[in-house]
Amino acid sequence: MRTVIIGGKGHVGTFLAPRLVEAGHDVICITRGQREPYQPHAAWKQVQQVQLDRGAEETAGMFGAKVADLKPDIVIDMICFKLDGARQLVEALRGRVQHFLHCGTLWVHGHSAQVPTAELQPRQPFGDYGIQKAAIEAYLLNEARVSGFPATVLHPGHIVGPGWAPLNPGGHFNPQVFERIARGEELTLPNLGQETVHHVHADDVAQAFMGAIANWSRAAGESFHVVSAQALSLRGYAEAMYAWFGQPARLAFLPWEEWRKTVSEGEAAATWDHIAHSPNASIAKAARLLCYQPRYTSLQAVQESVSWLIANRVIKV
Ligand SMILES: NC(=O)c1ccc[n+]([C@@H]2O[C@H](COP(=O)([O-])OP(=O)(O)OC[C@H]3O[C@@H](n4cnc5c(N)ncnc54)[C@H](OP(=O)(O)O)[C@@H]3O)[C@@H](O)[C@H]2O)c1
Repeated sequence: MRTVIIGGKGHVGTFLAPRLVEAGHDVICITRGQREPYQPHAAWKQVQQVQLDRGAEETAGMFGAKVADLKPDIVIDMICFKLDGARQLVEALRGRVQHFLHCGTLWVHGHSAQVPTAELQPRQPFGDYGIQKAAIEAYLLNEARVSGFPATVLHPGHIVGPGWAPLNPGGHFNPQVFERIARGEELTLPNLGQETVHHVHADDVAQAFMGAIANWSRAAGESFHVVSAQALSLRGYAEAMYAWFGQPARLAFLPWEEWRKTVSEGEAAATWDHIAHSPNASIAKAARLLCYQPRYTSLQAVQESVSWLIANRVIKV
């Protein structure tokens, strides 16, 4: 199979491209050539690199044609954030690819309602990112079911792995939160710490893409959640991290309007985005149809990532 990954050197691509090479795919990776994968792997020597700036090519109306010119059997789109971008690709690839896989997000669901959230529940996204991703999902699944365009949509949770800071128990990305926990200092959480986050290891996201490709007939025209088996409450997450560092949990709680003043504006915005969504998604559909079995629990994924932060002196404990 000739498989093109658009945006293939990021969190997920770091694990997905080597998995594809090992499975015998001829892999072509489209990026702007600015970033390297988070981890080296010998398989990258076999990956053909194509340098394209998607934004510029879309503006010129050329992106779809340039992807089609690569004559892919499979296209994996990791970096589509606007409906127009998805349309350009579908128009150019219709009738020319066996499988088209789009990386979505749990944010298509908006606020959690009945949990664990299932794929069939109504979409009530808020915020431009979630609204656009939901529109892309609706468009692709409609194209699949009405016109037979072979699209699959995978919705990851918070992607975690060695090489970058994971979403922390405060609901934002400042890695110093882990330093405070490691020193046994008090951590203040918003509200009662009962809002949830749902992580997934980047390699488990890669596993799900491989599962979708291997189970084409069950995956085409469908969307799937791709997360760990269980979400975490902020409180449960914090308590587990204190225990991991061998410290007794020292937690305090403040109502949101007071808590937000205890962190930077950027951290408050990130936490609000996460707790307003409070994702808690079911993986039953992916397990049943794609044989998806996450290797990592949320805590194992986070702890591997925090170990990397410590080993690389991003945080000192
Ligand atoms: N991060 C999360 O926690 C999370 C959660 C849920 C869903 N998602 C979804 O995951 C997807 C992102 O996957 P990821 O986190 O693996 O990606 P990522 O780490 O952000 O990496 C993006 C990749 O795309 C390339 N790229 C960026 N802009 C480009 C452009 N204009 N033209 C061509 N290449 C470009 C980058 O390389 P260059 O910079 O070298 O071009 C890099 O290889 C998105 O669809 C997002 O909605 C992410």
